[in-house]
Amino acid sequence: STVLILNGPNLNLLGTRQPEIYGRETLDDIRALCTDHAARLGFDVDFRQTNHEGTLVDWVQEARAAGSCAGIILNAAAYTHTSVALLDALSACETPVVEVHLSNIHKREPFRHHSYVSKVAVGMICGFGSHGYVLALDALARLVASRKE
Ligand code: DQA
Repeated sequence: STVLILNGPNLNLLGTRQPEIYGRETLDDIRALCTDHAARLGFDVDFRQTNHEGTLVDWVQEARAAGSCAGIILNAAAYTHTSVALLDALSACETPVVEVHLSNIHKREPFRHHSYVSKVAVGMICGFGSHGYVLALDALARLVASRKE
């Protein structure tokens, strides 16, 4: 089965965007990391990035309609802190969501401390850089296995 990995605005700039906060790896590096690790866990990966809020909503609705994806790993970037629309889309979707952030959002500006995504996520991983995506895949694999029992 497939894990949908969705990345929000400005994550296309990873590698050169505030590397002291987000690291030197590019989004393509993270895609490769995810594809490799998912394969070890027996998952395919559908890895996407958009700068547009509505596109994230469309993708979550697509996952809901298809009903075939094992889980969603979501780094909604700045929309994490602002998007009721994304929260509503996720609330209408049965697929388990694991929230990821590269940086530790709780160590940063107060406006990053609140997450709409956390209201519907099974859990959240932040502060471990790209390794957070690997941790999220492990968490999803466990969850999927326990739901099958
Ligand atoms: C982020 C944290 C957000 O606050 C920020 O807007 C991002 C990236 C992270 O991965 O650390 O763009 O989601």
